[in-house]
Amino acid sequence: MKNKIEMMQEIKDLPVVIFNEIGYSYPNGTEALKDISLNIFKGELMGIMGKNGAGKTTLIRTLNGLIRPTYGSIYIENENISSKSIATLSKKVGIIFQNPFHQLFANSVEEEIKFSLKSLNLHKEEIQMRVDQVLQEFSLEKYRNRSPLNLSGGESKKLALASIICRDPEILVFDEPTLGQDAKEIEFFINLIKKERKIGKTIIIITHNVEFAYDYLPRTILMADGQIISDGPTKKVLNNEFLIKQTSLILPQIRQFSIALQQTGYRDVEDVLTKNDMINYLSNLIQHKASNI
Ligand SMILES: Nc1ncnc2c1ncn2[C@@H]1O[C@H](COP(=O)(O)OP(=O)(O)O)[C@@H](O)[C@H]1O
Ligand SMILES: [Mg+2]
Repeated sequence: MKNKIEMMQEIKDLPVVIFNEIGYSYPNGTEALKDISLNIFKGELMGIMGKNGAGKTTLIRTLNGLIRPTYGSIYIENENISSKSIATLSKKVGIIFQNPFHQLFANSVEEEIKFSLKSLNLHKEEIQMRVDQVLQEFSLEKYRNRSPLNLSGGESKKLALASIICRDPEILVFDEPTLGQDAKEIEFFINLIKKERKIGKTIIIITHNVEFAYDYLPRTILMADGQIISDGPTKKVLNNEFLIKQTSLILPQIRQFSIALQQTGYRDVEDVLTKNDMINYLSNLIQHKASNI
């Protein structure tokens, strides 16, 4: 018989999202998704990358019912979502879209958060508590009464994030979160995903940012022409020159550097994958040279 720990482990290992051979064509006939099969596990942090028009946004829009697959099925926590409403699915899946202004429409920052919490049927006190908490966490308190239309690009992106995070969904999906963000805003975002991951959230991030994906996302899928063309550890996927060319991405800087070093004769640098490993490799090399003088 299995013990409790083994059973817990099995539950953890079950996919939280299953795409089972799905496809989608827009009403105008554009075939945006073709035969997509994909398992995403609880607590995973993964990236979706690929050229513009590859189908990334279409794929994530299927997760909260904004788009229903033309064929195939999607399971979230073992339930087929075909008959679940957008409202029900939005409690489980929080999607933060690329353009925050498509998501924001209340008269004030505080109202925006309150509106987002409305459908969760919480007590008045709980709502106020969550509003205060999230405004503080996102440093938006000073804008409490301001119209979302009068926020800067970075602040409105933060509000769009806050209005989804306050609902505490199990699965968080971000569509190009680092696009147009400055270094400080990206750092805030990285800390946010670290925090959410620590509490067991499953996180999916669409991104064109190779360095960000390489440094922070353990798994990456590559999409092209509505299909998944690669799925694996990010350091493996993004170091593959053939795949990178196919998706109009560029190789991570560390890989470019290691290729340049290899070309000057340092063949063993091939296995160096991270910045820290590269620092160690180079300092060993320098020490070795120094001791040979
Ligand atoms: N509302 C729409 N109507 C028709 N075609 C669309 C619509 N939205 C996207 N598409 C098309 O579907 C394909 C996938 O688009 P999308 O999912 O937005 O790609 P990505 O997010 O990877 O850039 C593209 O060919 C795009 O032109
Ligand atoms: Mg997109």
